[in-house]
Amino acid sequence: MKIGILGAGNIGGNLGKLWAETGHEVFFAVRSPQSDKVQAILNSITANFHTGTIEEAVTFADVILLSIHWQNVPEILTQIQDIITDKILIDSTNRMIPPPADTTGSAAGDIARLLPTAKIIKAFNTLGANNLTNLQFGAENASTFICGDDTEAKSIVTQLAQEIGFDVVDVGLLNTAPLIESLAKLWVQISRQYGRETAFKLLKR
Ligand SMILES: NC(=O)c1ccc[n+]([C@@H]2O[C@H](COP(=O)([O-])OP(=O)(O)OC[C@H]3O[C@@H](n4cnc5c(N)ncnc54)[C@H](OP(=O)(O)O)[C@@H]3O)[C@@H](O)[C@H]2O)c1
Repeated sequence: MKIGILGAGNIGGNLGKLWAETGHEVFFAVRSPQSDKVQAILNSITANFHTGTIEEAVTFADVILLSIHWQNVPEILTQIQDIITDKILIDSTNRMIPPPADTTGSAAGDIARLLPTAKIIKAFNTLGANNLTNLQFGAENASTFICGDDTEAKSIVTQLAQEIGFDVVDVGLLNTAPLIESLAKLWVQISRQYGRETAFKLLKR
């Protein structure tokens, strides 16, 4: 699969590296290719990756990961709205700033409103990036909670998440994104008391 990473930082850098290692072709959109952070990620990947602009990453990819701080998200959405067409966009963001007055109720819903043809899937936002390279907690693997309206897109994202070790919990349609976004806020609060080596897992029987 061709994957575009918008924001090669803690989340995007690590997920991109993991997907490149599992054989996917990953295109990192980077605005400061020589920065220490970007170089550290790129130097740790041996194959299957490219770098370039936001537009080049979106044009290249079938699946796009949005892993940028919310302050920068509106400018990125404006940049990609005419080229994303009906591609899959995974929203891993957490909006830690107040929502606009006309919010749909979630960051993912607001993205979907701005990118009406794209298939938006919320995922990968409910645990600290430090856990991405080791999702195992004893006998259990951490869950990622996903939602979205397009069944095929959700199954592609499910497979991408399972390939790198996540237990995937499909929460439902995109209108359940507020629940997943709240869970991220709960993780932040919990991590202050219990540390960042923590993750949610859905127990089932
Ligand atoms: N960190 C976590 O544990 C965690 C967990 C769950 C969800 N999240 C969410 O994931 C998102 C990313 O968080 P993060 O911790 O990965 O942030 P980060 O390490 O700061 O990475 C963000 C990346 O976005 C890039 N960026 C910003 N504007 C850009 C632009 N116009 N063009 C290209 N690249 C651009 C930054 O590049 P520069 O270096 O050039 O600025 C940086 O590499 C946030 O919404 C956050 O809430 C984070």
